[in-house]
Amino acid sequence: VCSLMLNLDLMEFSEPGIFNYSTLLLSEKGDALYVGAREAVFELSKKNVTVRNNKVSKAMKMCTLKGKSKERDCLNYIRVLQVVDNERLYVCGTHAFQPQCDYLNLADFSLVGQPEDGRGKCSFDPSQSFTTVMVDGELYSGTAYNFLGSEPIISRYSPYQSLLRTEYSTSWLNEPSFVFADVIRERKNKADGEDDKIYYFFTEVSVEYEFFGKLLIPRVARVCKGDLGGQRTLQKKWTSFLKAKLVCSMPELNFVFNVVHDVFILKGTDWKDTVIYGVFTSQWGNVGLSAVCAYSLTALEDVFSKGKYMQKTTVEQSHTKWVRYNGITPTPRPGACINNLMRQQNISSSLHLPDKTLQFVKDHPLLEDPVLPIGNGPRLITKDVNYTQIVVERVRALDGKIYDVIFTGTDKGVLHKSVVFDEEVHIVEEIQLLKNSEPIKNLLLSSETRSLYAGSDSGVVQSPTEFCGRYPSCNDCVLARDPYCAWDPHTAACVTVFDTPNQRLIQSLNGDADKCPSGEEQHVHIGILGSSEQHLF
Ligand SMILES: *[C@@H]1O[C@H](CO)[C@@H](O)[C@H](O)[C@H]1NC(C)=O
Repeated sequence: VCSLMLNLDLMEFSEPGIFNYSTLLLSEKGDALYVGAREAVFELSKKNVTVRNNKVSKAMKMCTLKGKSKERDCLNYIRVLQVVDNERLYVCGTHAFQPQCDYLNLADFSLVGQPEDGRGKCSFDPSQSFTTVMVDGELYSGTAYNFLGSEPIISRYSPYQSLLRTEYSTSWLNEPSFVFADVIRERKNKADGEDDKIYYFFTEVSVEYEFFGKLLIPRVARVCKGDLGGQRTLQKKWTSFLKAKLVCSMPELNFVFNVVHDVFILKGTDWKDTVIYGVFTSQWGNVGLSAVCAYSLTALEDVFSKGKYMQKTTVEQSHTKWVRYNGITPTPRPGACINNLMRQQNISSSLHLPDKTLQFVKDHPLLEDPVLPIGNGPRLITKDVNYTQIVVERVRALDGKIYDVIFTGTDKGVLHKSVVFDEEVHIVEEIQLLKNSEPIKNLLLSSETRSLYAGSDSGVVQSPTEFCGRYPSCNDCVLARDPYCAWDPHTAACVTVFDTPNQRLIQSLNGDADKCPSGEEQHVHIGILGSSEQHLF
């Protein structure tokens, strides 16, 4: 990528002595971006992150950790920030390897001061992976349940009912690195009374492949929101936990991207249009390739509702092997959510599921059928970068068509903006988002403020989603092929399409500059912020 880094005048926030601004939460209604850092939670204006409206410190009062460095280990890294209701946030921190959670009152921005055990909700170690999502006041998390990080758990904490969790077994979770979780609402969209589902994305060590050493596999797992556990079998455990492999590979080159780093769920107006985007690298990091793969929600659903199960067998006494299960599967289908059909059979909750179904799903949480990406391969492959974060915005361009615009952040503080066209992906621009060459730890997008927010160890940066104003000529503006930008011949400026009445604007997403007023000085398109190179193989 050839790029010219300009001074972008991005808005930045950091405070002296405070680090690790890795947890971000956008308020949907108010003008707030909540930021969890080391020993502090901030409320910034989402219109302008340089404006700090509130702060609360959450330092360790006393810390006596034997054999640990006080400077590094006696600290409280705020890792979980979730909205409970209009008045409160739920906040968890690592709290010197004894995770704790508390409520934060938004009215006066103070912690309630009745700490709850944060085990299973937040990681112990700030460098351990974890993910959480709050759904209707209940916290779904994926993290480690112990100090060593050797007991992974996917669980639900609820003020209304008892804890629900995964079975402690390598068939369920095997050294996972959690990256993302979110809810897909189906209950209100489907006629069959299907439940809402929580999807988890992670990389784990494969059990199903014979491999010298540890072979990593990217996974999607899902649980049903209405799950209450089983009556006898799987008591207080998920009855709906199933997982499958995510495929992101180039079959023609026999190359596999097997580590997922981040996922973004682009929710369509119709739930069926939902697309799941993930950024991947390979376990063999020396190849220096990153990929973006996209999956349709219907493809995921098909695997979970119809896929074949895998079964563990013992061969030659001690050796175990996973093979496809070809026997008869019990009914109702193991791992399925409760729907109207089951309700008609008097199974109105998971507590009524027959033992046969429960025992089966307990032993067979892994599906054989993988989830294949849209187009059977990556949407985007980039050389010499490590993508760490992804967000996607769906926009309507002047041609009336809908485009998915992908923003990917790297481990060097760089942001790529790419547009998915029918046959190709085009990198519109590359910008140095962070001043230092450090990883983008978190990336959020707000269509309302038309901004991206990046969190890193040293601060928070806000960037516009477009830099149309920086294209000096019609040719530059059009050749950028940015669906956000168009040339306005009346003001002779490259403008944001959302700001200007459409009729007179010039935009051509296939990069055809013939429509530009003739006589304009022919600029060589150098891509003021990036390049127009193709990054597809
Ligand atoms: C926190 O930030 C400091 C300073 O940038 C960095 O050295 C450290 O690795 C970070 N810790 C974590 C757990 O991210």
